[in-house]
Amino acid sequence: MNRRYRKTVIAGNWKMNKNATDTKKFAEELKAIMPKTKWCEVVVCVPAVNISTAARAFKDARVAIGAQNMYYEPAGAFTGEVSADMLKNLGVKYVILGHSERRQYFGETDVIVNKKVHAALEAGLHPIICVGESLEQREMGITMELIALQVKSALYNVSADKLRKCIIAYEPIWAIGTGKTATSEQAAEVCTAIRTTIRQLYGARVARSVTIQYGGSMKPSNAAELLAQSDIDGGLIGGAALKADDFVAIINAANQD
Ligand code: PGA
Repeated sequence: MNRRYRKTVIAGNWKMNKNATDTKKFAEELKAIMPKTKWCEVVVCVPAVNISTAARAFKDARVAIGAQNMYYEPAGAFTGEVSADMLKNLGVKYVILGHSERRQYFGETDVIVNKKVHAALEAGLHPIICVGESLEQREMGITMELIALQVKSALYNVSADKLRKCIIAYEPIWAIGTGKTATSEQAAEVCTAIRTTIRQLYGARVARSVTIQYGGSMKPSNAAELLAQSDIDGGLIGGAALKADDFVAIINAANQD
């Protein structure tokens, strides 16, 4: 983390977990133990159908609401899809875009992710843009090129002003939901490379203002070490964000003086 230049953001990615009743229960549990978050912003990215419930349940807490996906068209005949404006209108602040599960199971390409980034920014949402390599790609030694390509395509034609509203989340696919965390060195190496790519595109001042998260089996036992890396400004947390006490332990790790 480097709080002088950028915000620390701890975001839970619930994926396809918890119904509306569970959402209310989780909100009560979290609010009961939630610390004062002086140093970091806390976000819960809930399933789209639970956004209204979450917005109501977290109203009196310092927790921002995020979505996990959206479509890039503003409106029209796109059965089953949700627009950026619909999210914004419900009080959503963040939206995860290009998560590896979206890329893997729903055919999202870098081009689609870029369209979604533009649509989200247009609507006033803050995109959390996910990038990451598979185990095969890491073993082939192409991680850095691949991540640079993902970052450049996601940010294609995004202005510096708009980039300041984006978060980049580095999520090695081999570490997601596997219990296998990247070492803090591996995570830091890629997060630093992401900042270098942004510096090449936008210059040093913009690059140092961008929040870069790590995601992939982040949990209470490894959060502090990952967050101690200067280019890791927060976490995108799946499994450990589903339990209020684990999520709070990670928030506490990001919230140290
Ligand atoms: P995990 O998921 O923390 O369960 O590995 C992270 C993510 O996919 O965002």
